[in-house]
Amino acid sequence: GTGLITLDPGYGNTGACTSAITFIDGEKGILRYRGIPIEQLAKNSTFVEVAWLLIFGRLPSQAELDDFRERLVRSAPLHEAFKHHFEGFLVDAPPMAILSAMVNTIACFPRRGAESESPEENFLENAAQLISKVRTIAAYSYRRSMGLPFIYPDFKLPYVANFLHMMFSTPYEQHIASREVVDALNLILLLHADHEQNCSTSTVRMVGSSQANIYASCAAAVGALWGPLHGGANMAVLDMLEAIHKGGISAAKAVEMAKDPNDDFRLMGFGHRVYKNFDPRARILKQAADKVLGQLGVNDPLLDVARQLEELALEDSYFVERKLYPNVDFYSGIIMRAIGIPTNMFTVIFAIGRMPGWIAQWKEQHDDSKARIARPRQIYTGPNETEYVPIDKRK
Ligand code: SDX
Repeated sequence: GTGLITLDPGYGNTGACTSAITFIDGEKGILRYRGIPIEQLAKNSTFVEVAWLLIFGRLPSQAELDDFRERLVRSAPLHEAFKHHFEGFLVDAPPMAILSAMVNTIACFPRRGAESESPEENFLENAAQLISKVRTIAAYSYRRSMGLPFIYPDFKLPYVANFLHMMFSTPYEQHIASREVVDALNLILLLHADHEQNCSTSTVRMVGSSQANIYASCAAAVGALWGPLHGGANMAVLDMLEAIHKGGISAAKAVEMAKDPNDDFRLMGFGHRVYKNFDPRARILKQAADKVLGQLGVNDPLLDVARQLEELALEDSYFVERKLYPNVDFYSGIIMRAIGIPTNMFTVIFAIGRMPGWIAQWKEQHDDSKARIARPRQIYTGPNETEYVPIDKRK
């Protein structure tokens, strides 16, 4: 085909790079972060602990986790000059465009003393800056889009509660998120934290293989994640469910439309390049959707539409033959909507969740002395050698 022969940045043209971070068995629907099954992490861990696990390869001690949390707290504020950058965007600028630009901009404000840090300390601080500030940038882009004043991070709040505070507090009243909402968002972020060589993570490795800095590499990944076939699917799922519900289209009709080769309608949130069985994250999120909406007393008709679509598709030969199952994006948006996240921020939430994975993958490649610049080749299908024709001799 005309695509890239290989996308294994830094490892020549072997077709796949090695990594010790995330294991996926697509046939069996298995996902493990550093060997730990995602189901156990979803049940017992937090997003911040999983971020440390992915980056450093093992679960942190209490002292290591406390130190990491402290770094995340301290790294939350943005340089005041960022406000000018935010003011430069139209209020309806896409949040993912703002996020990509602002993640890159962090590198324009070097930390005092960074030049005297050891390489390990420098990396750890950069990781904390990215994981912490991506949350502040996301919240500020939402506040800007709503014409609301920026809310500064609160150093007393843990990671997720602080994000919700920056999103929804006012200068007169602090937003105190409920335990259920904090737990639901922690789960969503944790489930999105890494996923092997997906499109955006391959982008991090591709850009990072030129020894571009970690901010530029992650900013490029935000752009890749934005696409509706990738991270943008969580927004597209809600648009699809809304269109079906409001358009009075039956789930059965929607499934037929998705099967019609002449109709570009797709069942967003279904299918996966690797999973040819249930995406284990979708299983977890489907249960969480029931639990969170029940806890919050939210009765969302779109959840019923999603369940009907899933039930019909899983019994339909078109989907069964192509091994199309719900993926991580199918239920995540329903939970985010229930906990008050605006739809246009869904993919931004995905980026916040995926940041530790991008950092871990960048580090793994950066630490490998054998890694080389990614330089995939293409199979040439253009014309043979051709003479130049002066313009007055052309037809
Ligand atoms: C993510 O890679 C990762 O790990 C990604 C991710 C991560 O954590 O980083 O898991 C996150 O991106 C999940 C995927 C989110 N995207 C969507 O939900 C968009 C809808 N899904 C599809 O566009 C598609 O399934 C992809 C993009 C996910 C996978 O695309 P592939 O592997 O290139 O599959 P394909 O397009 O070649 O489809 C194979 C067949 C085709 O039919 P035929 O040509 O054989 O007749 O399956 C059909 C497709 O038409 N098909 C679908 C479908 N997905 C595939 N038909 C209807 N609805 C769908 N959703």
